[in-house]
Amino acid sequence: MPRTNGYILLSGSANTELSVKVAKKLKTKVYYPCTKFADGEINVQIPVSVRRKDVFIIQPTCGEVNANIMEILLIADAARRASANEIILICPYFGYSRQDRKCDPRVPVSASLIASMLEHSGVSRIITLDIHSEQQQGFFKGPWDNLYASYILVPYIKKLKIKNLVVVSPDKGGAVRATAYARRLDAEGLAIVYKERDTSVKNSSKALDMIGDVQNKNVVIVDDIIDTAGSITNAEKLLYSRGAKDVCVVATHGIFSPPAAERLSKSSLTRVVVTDSIPLNNDIKSLPNVKVISIAGLLAKAILATHTGISFSGEIID
Ligand code: R5P
Repeated sequence: MPRTNGYILLSGSANTELSVKVAKKLKTKVYYPCTKFADGEINVQIPVSVRRKDVFIIQPTCGEVNANIMEILLIADAARRASANEIILICPYFGYSRQDRKCDPRVPVSASLIASMLEHSGVSRIITLDIHSEQQQGFFKGPWDNLYASYILVPYIKKLKIKNLVVVSPDKGGAVRATAYARRLDAEGLAIVYKERDTSVKNSSKALDMIGDVQNKNVVIVDDIIDTAGSITNAEKLLYSRGAKDVCVVATHGIFSPPAAERLSKSSLTRVVVTDSIPLNNDIKSLPNVKVISIAGLLAKAILATHTGISFSGEIID
């Protein structure tokens, strides 16, 4: 008897554009099992049998983050009770991932709690993209595969044929990622911005200083997340003040919470490249320097590799 009855794609409501693209790549159908009751409660019913099937739930936790996490929990519970084989969460943007440690007194480790809730609901495996800190995989007992957006972003930057390239991390936390990009892009150098956050003011940061030389260089800032765009626009100002010729940004997840659109429209960033892990709002879409690269192909490959049991290394994870 075969291990499974095949696989099925289910999607929550966080990024339906992305789930449609993934289904198209896989030449299959995606089902949307969530609707809302009049009082706002989420109603889930999977419209087809999932008995002994691998169930892939595509749902980044962006937008209505708490409601979208609840959708995942309810879909997983429904799939588990309907005798699914494996329940795999494809969560390219994993919300609460920046709250991954007890950095102040009396604060939760939210990322750990979310992982435990997923485990309890029946999710047996998680697939993320550029998770904020990779040690979070230890918060979950099952397999947690983290994909790298560099698989699609590095070839994109290479095509731009940027001369005198220096790759910059906007903070010390991103130094390992920026180093990997610099190596793969054969950059002339690497620079790291010294960013400080005022923890009493949410989403506020300052770029105080930097290590590295950007004089007359073309700079690519690499980050995992653009939220309010404070980190990248502060870094950009510092880089231009240190003599950079051109500054652009490549980031995996574009949350673009206000005032990101305003900050970006006032900035001198020549290009802001993000993936479609999170749908863009209209204010951001209308900015001429914003470019979106799709992760649909990468996720489709990860789904097939997971279902058929082939290795993720090589083509999918670099
Ligand atoms: C922080 O450690 C992250 O890597 C990002 O740099 C940060 O979340 C970006 O936030 P914002 O755009 O609000 O500065």
